[in-house]
Amino acid sequence: MAKILEVKNVTKIYPGVVALDDVSFDVEAGEVLALIGENGAGKSTVIKTISGAIQAESGSIVIEGKEYTKLTPAIAKEAGIGVVYQEFNLVPSLSIAENIFLGDKVGKTRGCPDFKEMKRRSQDIMEELGVKIDVNTQVQMLSTAQMQIVEIAKAMIKNCKVLIMDEPSASIPMAEVQNMFRIIRKLKARGVSVIYISHRLEELFEICDRVTIFRDGKYVTTQNVADITKKDLIRYMIGRELTEKFPSRNAQIGEPVLEVQDLSGNGDFHINMALHKGEILGLAGLVGAGRTELAKMLCGDVKPDSGKILVRGKQMTAHSAADGVDLGIGLVPEDRKQEGAFLEYSIEWNIAIMALRQNSKWSFMDFKKIDELVETYNETLDIKTPTVKQLVRNLSGGNQQKVVVAKVLAAQNDILIFDEPTRGIDVGAKQEIYKLMNSLVEDGKSILMISSEMEELLGMSDRIIVLHEGTVGGEVSKNNFCQEKILELASGIVEE
Ligand SMILES: Nc1ncnc2c1ncn2[C@@H]1O[C@H](COP(=O)(O)OP(=O)(O)OP(=O)(O)O)[C@@H](O)[C@H]1O
Ligand SMILES: [Mg+2]
Repeated sequence: MAKILEVKNVTKIYPGVVALDDVSFDVEAGEVLALIGENGAGKSTVIKTISGAIQAESGSIVIEGKEYTKLTPAIAKEAGIGVVYQEFNLVPSLSIAENIFLGDKVGKTRGCPDFKEMKRRSQDIMEELGVKIDVNTQVQMLSTAQMQIVEIAKAMIKNCKVLIMDEPSASIPMAEVQNMFRIIRKLKARGVSVIYISHRLEELFEICDRVTIFRDGKYVTTQNVADITKKDLIRYMIGRELTEKFPSRNAQIGEPVLEVQDLSGNGDFHINMALHKGEILGLAGLVGAGRTELAKMLCGDVKPDSGKILVRGKQMTAHSAADGVDLGIGLVPEDRKQEGAFLEYSIEWNIAIMALRQNSKWSFMDFKKIDELVETYNETLDIKTPTVKQLVRNLSGGNQQKVVVAKVLAAQNDILIFDEPTRGIDVGAKQEIYKLMNSLVEDGKSILMISSEMEELLGMSDRIIVLHEGTVGGEVSKNNFCQEKILELASGIVEE
């Protein structure tokens, strides 16, 4: 097969970090190439080099036989490189068609863009991708999965030959992943190559032809997906084998610490449940089932319309975020960029800010203790950084997520709500987080874990509550765990 893209000896250095160390690999025409590696391995950095978003110190990019040493976003686009970043670059108030043609003037006549032509071509491309939606629709009305398709359409309109997708499955609901795969297969049939980044290794076996593996900024190997096992992939990625994915624990489950009685709000929402001391309670449900809504009410971020939340037997009254903090309830939110971390501040500052209250007397802060906490969590979670003074914005995606987790743990809350805690986190670090969760409940803390990853729910929970359209659709205890049962309860097909 012909090579469409070659990355040749690329080195990229940031202060204190060699993000890419003399990396070379290539992409063949019409293939789906997986790019994998631990958090901070350099995946996003190499993508940004190929798309011209950043400039490497040395090395070059060859696109269809033409060698470039200084790519800019415009040149890369023109040469046929399209990127769907994890954070979408769409203007919410504009229509689908306007977004697809953003920055491109089509058939300009006397300075006026040809809107009719833009609409026609947008409609064509959306239909080709198998999406039936009016291109006049404002982007803010779309689901995340639909927005992702608009991003793909944006690349395709530019006649993209290599479509790069940075963790595309992390930002859309599980149920939409198959549809995204369908689109990828369509593009492939048209001869488009795809570079696919993901921490969900199962996905590679479904959609990718070859896999390139990075470790610590270095290229490790490229293999045919058909010839490699998941175990080998992990060994190449983290340099060792990973035994028992879900470590066992020895925790005593005690009295209820968080009880929810007839909680309602936001329309159809109506929930009863209890979380016990020493327990990891899984919360399953399809998107829109009310999982995140419930999490926000429990930590005081959102005020319920009616019903009660009892924390250690006492009713929560104020319903403010500060109330949640006072009651010792910590939330690792789903959206780390919006609500989780202070991106413009350092790792140290982010971890310390939550620990201040517990480690100050009157207005004197115990700096030594705070420093210790920062160091402890930085180490336990293995945040990849030259220094804790690094701004969170400069960390890789998965390492930002680790800061969010560290920040909540540093506050030493007894009740923890984890909303998709391992999203974007690599297999090795995932296991570290699972171990940490185990030790927390062994210490008598309680965890409510919201997750879309069935494996994680089944592997970590003592009990799983399944939400369906804002109410508790059912409950399954550990000895009766079964994926089918949970999916049935989540979709409302129950035969009890
Ligand atoms: N702007 C920056 N300033 C300083 N360091 C940076 C910057 N951008 C990236 N880095 C560092 O470069 C390294 C590679 O980061 P990169 O984002 O490419 O990792 P990744 O493989 O995409 O990880 P993840 O799976 O977590 O997304 C990391 O150590 C990261 O901290
Ligand atoms: Mg990344």
